[in-house]
Amino acid sequence: MAEIKHAEVGHKSLLQSDALYQYILETSVYPREPEAMKELREITAKHPWNLMTTSADEGQFLSMLLKLINAKNTMEIGVYTGYSLLATALALPDDGKILAMDINRENYELGLPVIEKAGVAHKIEFKEGPALPVLDLMIEDEKNHGTYDFIFVDADKDNYINYHKRLIDLVRVGGVIGYDNTLWNGSVAAAPDAPMRKYVRYYRDFVMELNKALAADPRIEICMLPVGDGITLCRRVK
Ligand SMILES: C[S@@+](CC[C@H](N)C(=O)[O-])C[C@H]1O[C@@H](n2cnc3c(N)ncnc32)[C@H](O)[C@@H]1O
Repeated sequence: MAEIKHAEVGHKSLLQSDALYQYILETSVYPREPEAMKELREITAKHPWNLMTTSADEGQFLSMLLKLINAKNTMEIGVYTGYSLLATALALPDDGKILAMDINRENYELGLPVIEKAGVAHKIEFKEGPALPVLDLMIEDEKNHGTYDFIFVDADKDNYINYHKRLIDLVRVGGVIGYDNTLWNGSVAAAPDAPMRKYVRYYRDFVMELNKALAADPRIEICMLPVGDGITLCRRVK
């Protein structure tokens, strides 16, 4: 059967225009966005690296997912100013926990007053520094194995495979790891010689390798969603 092209009847992707994305934001995301998340989104928009923030529709998606799986013990690698962290903190029960890691504390502190005002800072343990050595230490202690309900990875793309090797032991069977940016600006489907920003080109191969590795990993079920820059959910099955 011939492939169905984008915008033909029968094509399964609904996002055919920027206007449609705007419609989603304005109709279903912004009207339900908690005030604190709106405030943090507006603070982040003024920061020079605002391109890094998790989008509002992805924040809403994470919030729904965490509630659906009744997540309580969670981890986040890659915090920036904390938009996804705040979405997580608001979605967890009062005794929920988030181990949050980032090499940059300054950006986290930009969002922290909003998180504190929202009354959810007590759920967060922030560790400044590279995440990999922390994971290595955690793995050494068997007590940490299988203890996380949800882990969100949104940091250095060239380390995702290294994260996966460790996180698969830390997430519980039935728990979920979410890898962000798995469509990497759409570059994963572009011709290798297509024009791309330098950083997009640099990380593209790492993201494509990760996508192949996740699809071949029998310990997880996967679902790649075109939300934000692409998020792949991995449910640990063994
Ligand atoms: C895309 S941003 C995270 C966005 C964030 N989830 C949000 O909602 O705004 C990526 C973050 O990963 C952090 N990062 C980069 N390398 C890291 C590493 N080795 N360990 C931990 N964090 C790292 C960066 O400092 C940056 O803040």
